[in-house]
Amino acid sequence: MVKKHVYGTPFETEAVVLTVAASSDPFSVGVSSVENGYQFTYEMADTDLIFGLGENTRGINKRGYLYTSYCIDEKDHTEDKHSMYSAHNFILISGTSHVGLFFDYPSRLTFDLGYTVQNQLTVSCDSTDLYVYEITGDSDEDVVKQFRHLIGRSYIPPKFAFGFGQSRWGYKTADDFRNVVKTYRENHLPIDMLYMDIDYMDHFKDFTVNPEEFPDFAAYVDEMKAQNIHLVPIIDAGVKVEDGYDVYEEGKEKNYFCKRADGSDFAVAVWPGWTHFPDFLNPDARKWFGHKYEFLLSKGIDAFWNDMNEPATFYTEEGLAELRPKLQAILDGDLGDNPSRLSATTTVLSHNPKDFSRFYHKIDGKMVCNETVHNLFGYNMTRSAGEAFTELVPDKRILMFSRSSYIGMHRYGGTWMGDNKSWWSHILLNLKMLPSLNMCGILYTGADLGGFLCNATRDLVLRWLALGVFTPLMRNHTALGTREQECYQFEHIEDFRHVLGVRYRLVPYLYSEYMKAALNDEMLFRPLSFVYPEDTHAREVEDQLMLGHEIMIAPIYTQNTTGRYVYLPEEMKFIKFLPDGCLYEEILSQGHHYVDVALNEVPLFIRKDKCIPICDVAESVPEIDYATIQMIGYPDAKYDLYDDDGVTPIR
Ligand code: NOJ
Repeated sequence: MVKKHVYGTPFETEAVVLTVAASSDPFSVGVSSVENGYQFTYEMADTDLIFGLGENTRGINKRGYLYTSYCIDEKDHTEDKHSMYSAHNFILISGTSHVGLFFDYPSRLTFDLGYTVQNQLTVSCDSTDLYVYEITGDSDEDVVKQFRHLIGRSYIPPKFAFGFGQSRWGYKTADDFRNVVKTYRENHLPIDMLYMDIDYMDHFKDFTVNPEEFPDFAAYVDEMKAQNIHLVPIIDAGVKVEDGYDVYEEGKEKNYFCKRADGSDFAVAVWPGWTHFPDFLNPDARKWFGHKYEFLLSKGIDAFWNDMNEPATFYTEEGLAELRPKLQAILDGDLGDNPSRLSATTTVLSHNPKDFSRFYHKIDGKMVCNETVHNLFGYNMTRSAGEAFTELVPDKRILMFSRSSYIGMHRYGGTWMGDNKSWWSHILLNLKMLPSLNMCGILYTGADLGGFLCNATRDLVLRWLALGVFTPLMRNHTALGTREQECYQFEHIEDFRHVLGVRYRLVPYLYSEYMKAALNDEMLFRPLSFVYPEDTHAREVEDQLMLGHEIMIAPIYTQNTTGRYVYLPEEMKFIKFLPDGCLYEEILSQGHHYVDVALNEVPLFIRKDKCIPICDVAESVPEIDYATIQMIGYPDAKYDLYDDDGVTPIR
């Protein structure tokens, strides 16, 4: 059952799609108050687990820390952080009762989940204008399903998006991209997508391509398509300020950019230098920007990633003006009593929350400060594209994912997990975010495999790929200046060929389970406790997940190990995809086991009396031959395979 608690005059975020009447009933667990801002408090039982919060650091069970919903370009995904790129304000209290709470509020919201007082859960914000949706059900699964129904169907990508993609910030020339494809294809490393980071553009201007490198971009896109490669260009939130650049000129003339309080266009420095932010919260501006994707769609592009849309800010004129006297004082010798003052003074320039109070959106004719609706920016950037696609290419699914989001964006695209590092601990973080994101509606997701920042090693990339084999978005991406980490950069390419090949063998199953999850408002990845709620061990497992209705995954995330411990809540069939193409199969009883998994093997576990389809290896999604499908798992089990053309939108 869903109850809608209304406080004051909430901002309409349009996160929820169902109409629910306001309720005056008290909460079934916890109490709320509206003195000095809004507060919801609940005394947690010792055995309660707290799930949710989508993209965030720390555990699947979020209990014991402080999280703040405030979208920020945070490149250090460490345990001391409270906010990341997105705001996913849904939590699920799982104990003797099962209660979901969605705080539909677009600005800073704090979730103190036993941080200040160990058994006290407090959700608070400064304002008293918000909706709180309370969802009660028979099980965790039931609550999530009702919540997902409330917020509308999750985004459905084209089938090719279930292939593997290569990316690197730094590919610049037409030949850079060609060489990646050539080397993948020559080495028979399966691949479907090649990502174009900011250097494909003309001076980082959205909806342009570098004219010297790509004089006939449509022909270039065709050249790639002939090799079964979809190019995926990046689109950034900031529009370069440059006289004569059509997007800038039009936005300025039509007043589609975010404004300062004095009515001038707000300027912020990002990759192109000075930029303006399109006012994605103004429906006219949103429509205008969304239709700009036509420039690339018309050249044959059918895939995009939206970036820097928290929005990311390197510096503003106002920030520089504030910094100057401080720097001058330091240059004049005033370091005070803190020698680290210089770096502290300058780092405050980037992603300075003060800048979010300096620009405004035009909503229903009124100027609304970004600070009060801050978490909706990335959501509405992706919505602008998603809404335009239904008009521009009504017969085609377009691949779209975004860095920043709020609940609601899940209807228009997926998300990737941002600028992680080539750290072993980030393989585990990648795994933990999957079910949390799924609860909030985001099904098409994955992390930068191999890690974005820092230098990757061969073993790390292989182990990370062995998790990525299961994530809908399977992309190897890394930052400018880091060690090259394409699958052909390391010795024994055959190991990479094998691991990527396993992904393609699993595409019929992964696609089928993804589609069932999307169409039935279900999760693709579940914590073990969702499936085995009575099993107290399962309730604590943080490094294994259930995938779909048939399998459990338990990737290796520690360096220099030849296997790992796993917990099986019931008997399962342990499968390893071996490098010679054969399968290792062993029935393991309920309980704890140590399983050996070599660097070039991919493990999974099939639940008792279940089976899954696998096909022969293919080098791209269109080459997958469904006639080669065979079932693996328990002999008399049945599997209901979902399939479709992978292109036609499902409305
Ligand atoms: C930040 C994004 O998170 C990253 O993936 C991208 O490579 C850089 N921006 C450069 O565009």
